[in-house]
Amino acid sequence: AKELPLSGKKVLITAGPTYEAIDPVRFLGNHSSGTMGFELAKRAANLGAKVILVSGPTYLNLEHSSVELIRVTSAREMYDACHRHYKNMDVAICAAAVADYRPKKVATEKIKKKDGDMQIELERNPDILLSLGEQKTHQFLVGFALETENELENAKGKLKRKNLDGIVLNSLKEDGAGFGSGTNKITFIDKNLHIKTFGLKTKPEVASDIWEEIISKIHA
Ligand code: C5P
Repeated sequence: AKELPLSGKKVLITAGPTYEAIDPVRFLGNHSSGTMGFELAKRAANLGAKVILVSGPTYLNLEHSSVELIRVTSAREMYDACHRHYKNMDVAICAAAVADYRPKKVATEKIKKKDGDMQIELERNPDILLSLGEQKTHQFLVGFALETENELENAKGKLKRKNLDGIVLNSLKEDGAGFGSGTNKITFIDKNLHIKTFGLKTKPEVASDIWEEIISKIHA
């Protein structure tokens, strides 16, 4: 059989939102569908990789003999699952929309409404991508950036600060791009700050473009 470009490679991908519990029935979350991460996982598997897909709550499913799907709920669970596997990985892509904050206290009983306003105190969640950058030994590490202003400068800053090998900039200025839509318009920036811009495409096509970029750089 012909060698596939990711044969023998192990890939870690994060996807979806995280849910941060407030009480037994409520959480803080976001509208991430998980589609981009799942498409990246599917593509990697079809290119020959063994994939560990760590996903927050999503209705998506992926049944593929080369994909191990680990479902988590909170950012801290996602952090733990990623670090359990990271050492053995060749490539890691963080495509999850991780909550930056979580409620400081999780009520053990459903919180009752009272007259007047209420407050929930929040504390910072760990930055999973940053921690993977700090602990990087040989892995090719890729993050996502979703910016609304100074897009390129902010993405380049993130690339350096988080010790990444590449960052995928999602353009929100484009109609039909990003969150909740079936399409995306991306720019890929590598660690030498080489920039490649792509047109508006479906997410499976975007996943294929991202892997083409990564493969060209790990084989270079
Ligand atoms: O710094 P910012 O949140 O904009 O960075 C986005 C990138 O960092 C994405 O790749 C996202 O998956 C990752 N991230 C993470 N853990 C967090 C926050 C962001 O892995 N707590």
